[in-house]
Amino acid sequence: MMPFLLALFVLGCSVIHCGGVSKHPVILVPGLGASQLWHKKGKEPFYRSLWVYPHKTIFKLDSLVEDMKLNMNSSTGSTFDDRGHTVKACGFGNPKSLTGLVTSWNPFANPFPKMTSSDCDGEEFYEDDSDFDGMNKTFLKMLRNKKGANHVGHWLGAGLSLFDFCGSKIKDYLKKIAGIKNTWKNVHYFKDLIHTLEKKGYRANVDIKGAPYDFRKAPNELTEYYRSLKRLIEDTFSKNGNSKVVLVAHSNGNPVLLYFYNSVVTAEWKDKYIRAHVALGPPWAGATKTVKLMVSGDSVNIPFVKGKRLRPMQRSWPTVAWLMPSPSHGLWLWEEGEPLIKVDHYSYGVGDYRHLFDDLGYPDGYRLWQTVEREAVADLSKPPDVRELHVFYGINVPTAGHFVYTRTSFPDSDPKTVDERDGDGTVNRRSLEAFKKFRSSKFTNITHHAYPGKDHMDVLRDQRVLSFITNLVFSKEPALPPRHEKSRFPNAASCCGSGWQVPMLTVMVLGLVSTV
Ligand SMILES: *[C@@H]1O[C@H](CO)[C@@H](O)[C@H](O)[C@H]1NC(C)=O
Ligand SMILES: *[C@@H]1O[C@H](CO)[C@@H](O)[C@H](O)[C@H]1NC(C)=O
Ligand SMILES: *[C@@H]1O[C@H](CO)[C@@H](O)[C@H](O)[C@H]1NC(C)=O
Repeated sequence: MMPFLLALFVLGCSVIHCGGVSKHPVILVPGLGASQLWHKKGKEPFYRSLWVYPHKTIFKLDSLVEDMKLNMNSSTGSTFDDRGHTVKACGFGNPKSLTGLVTSWNPFANPFPKMTSSDCDGEEFYEDDSDFDGMNKTFLKMLRNKKGANHVGHWLGAGLSLFDFCGSKIKDYLKKIAGIKNTWKNVHYFKDLIHTLEKKGYRANVDIKGAPYDFRKAPNELTEYYRSLKRLIEDTFSKNGNSKVVLVAHSNGNPVLLYFYNSVVTAEWKDKYIRAHVALGPPWAGATKTVKLMVSGDSVNIPFVKGKRLRPMQRSWPTVAWLMPSPSHGLWLWEEGEPLIKVDHYSYGVGDYRHLFDDLGYPDGYRLWQTVEREAVADLSKPPDVRELHVFYGINVPTAGHFVYTRTSFPDSDPKTVDERDGDGTVNRRSLEAFKKFRSSKFTNITHHAYPGKDHMDVLRDQRVLSFITNLVFSKEPALPPRHEKSRFPNAASCCGSGWQVPMLTVMVLGLVSTV
């Protein structure tokens, strides 16, 4: 009897716990601007859609800016919303909110989307996105048949393209809206990945999870988010037969996770719960474009709108300060004297932020920058120290290198952008490739994949990326090299996950045996 039961136990272990047959659950972490945000004022019973909400973007831009703006406490350098104003990334855990970027698909059918507080806190609100395809054919048809349809599409597209925060040039943009379909394609976010996994038997809310967050904040103010994320990873692990999680992050989600790996969790915790991290278009060391957001703002491609109009909100976000090229990553990706902003013959580089903010008449900006610099800039020479890191990014797409103003255009008018040769259109290549400077770690298997001509959003739907992830999540984890020389059971971690389960199950089995 005993050998039989033991065999059963061993078999059970290899199937359920060792990842031999089972699949790894996936958790998605979005970038800047890619979590849907909801808000309520005072005692309102409902959360209302705030971001990205086409209706508001098109018709009430100034109120959107006001609602998205943060105030700063100048003694602490931390930020807060107006009193009685709550802003939240609702539906934490549910990946469906990350399928696309807008909360209301059909602004005519449902112009004022809202949800209750309990819906916001729960995981259930976001339904399946079946009418997500091409945004509801009825509406598309309506657009095509109507006179001036392109005009409507244009404006709607403009609203929708808000997400493409540091997005493509107006020219490309016009090309995109020429085919409305492409515009819809562009509002898809993790859709292709979610659908690809679903076709392979994955289920949203079971083994695909989403971890949206208030992207306005930098890691120093994401304490609560990190707590929820840690719990989400642990829960997802245990509800999926103790199969380790694969984290897939886009853009800003990557440095957000780098901070999590380095400052929130331990190496043991990572070994227990995380199989791999897949980084898509990661701005490890920021992006030049954020400096422009601080100076003159960015219209995020909304036609006829000047960057200045959106600047109050963009300037107030700790993330924007956090993603400014930093002099203290220890990597010297940007030289001290290299210009980021030029005004006539004067230039500002990474070492001149104090002057820059002084000259902008925006000393709070410097305070904000100092705070994130002190509290949240990750030491990039410190690797994430997960066991596998797979990095995917576009290259050879013209990407802002620096910005040129004249004495009269500084700082309120849009500058001339000088592209540097390389990047993915949003993030500079040196930042995308900063992982190459991570202090090498014999514990991390790093692979990287640069795709010429692919932009910051393309990596989300590139077939090569999707296939890689699909293979990864079904593959068996290689035996982990021990982190400590002292470890006497080097392969213990590759089987059966956590240490305590083995003795516990053994006790149960032995207990059974003795009663039989
Ligand atoms: C700023 O932060 C300090 C320290 O936490 C706190 O005492 C003060 O009330 C805050 N001020 C505002 C305006 O919130
Ligand atoms: C598409 O939108 C129309 C108009 O709002 C609505 O009546 C219809 O049910 C929607 N179709 C689907 C498949 O959701
Ligand atoms: C690194 O990871 C990739 C993808 O999972 C895998 O194909 C490769 O064999 C790994 N390399 C090592 C040395 O484990």
